[in-house]
Amino acid sequence: MKPSVLVTKRIYPEAIEILKGHAEVDYEATDEGLAPDALIERARGKQAIVSQLTDKLSADIIARLDASVRSISNVAVGYDNIDVPAATARGIVVTNTPGVLSDATADLAFALMLAAARRIVEADEFVHSGKWSRWTIDLMVGQDVHHRTLGIFGMGRIGQAMAKRAAGFSMRILYTGNRPVETDVPAEFVDKAALLRESDFISLHVPLNASTRHLIGEPELRAMKRTAVLVNTARGPVVDEAALARALKQNWIAAAGIDVFEQEPKVNADLLACRNAVLAPHMGSASIATRLRMSTMAAENAVEAMEGRRPPNALNPEAVAAWTKAAK
Ligand code: GLV
Repeated sequence: MKPSVLVTKRIYPEAIEILKGHAEVDYEATDEGLAPDALIERARGKQAIVSQLTDKLSADIIARLDASVRSISNVAVGYDNIDVPAATARGIVVTNTPGVLSDATADLAFALMLAAARRIVEADEFVHSGKWSRWTIDLMVGQDVHHRTLGIFGMGRIGQAMAKRAAGFSMRILYTGNRPVETDVPAEFVDKAALLRESDFISLHVPLNASTRHLIGEPELRAMKRTAVLVNTARGPVVDEAALARALKQNWIAAAGIDVFEQEPKVNADLLACRNAVLAPHMGSASIATRLRMSTMAAENAVEAMEGRRPPNALNPEAVAAWTKAAK
């Protein structure tokens, strides 16, 4: 009998075609997706779920999934929406889409950094609204990016891609994290205090977990240069959004480029009012080619799991070991 898979929300059709080649597909082809109870109901009798970052698969929900469910394939590199230990306990393998979105996400982080430093959004509004009446020596002057210091929190795949772009702009690169790592371009490993103190630009590339929640709050924002620009393309709760709004309003820092928010799609009203914040709707990986590859990669992971093999991007391969043991 063919296995079956639940796709919780609209994805690229190429991914659905891959799944159809191997399984019965129950496709919720909407952008609203499924509420938790509906997801649990529709997952009944299915072997796999293809989920997105808006599906909150908490321990509670995972505990209520049918015993038939063997895998959850998230169409994202981040997986803070899924309680992986709870999935492991139920013998459910969880997969993500690493690597394929590093460049696209670093491109957006760099774009936000340039936009905030060089006031691109403000300038665009100025010209479009017909306010431009003459050229003056200090019209729309902003900050240089080239030859200045970039501080990176989290020198993983996306952090490294950001560093490469910064090297092309002759920037000095600092980074912090649990330990020094090998980097493709020269970068100095420093502690958090030095990074906050010395960086002109700070870009966040850490996963969201208990140790990174509110990594940047009032003390960190106050420790930055008054000319600093903060860029967040990681996850909203890594930054205390209310503290960031105060920092931008009271000029503890100069500007920010923010792609992710604490309660998406809601944005803190004070932050919305800050004209020195360039804001984007969680679009780090949003190029056509990248989102297509993320969709097909999640489908390929689901197929591997449904056919009893270890998926290439398993986050908890021990869950697969548990099936093999049960089958013996
Ligand atoms: C997007 O935010 C992702 O984690 O892929």
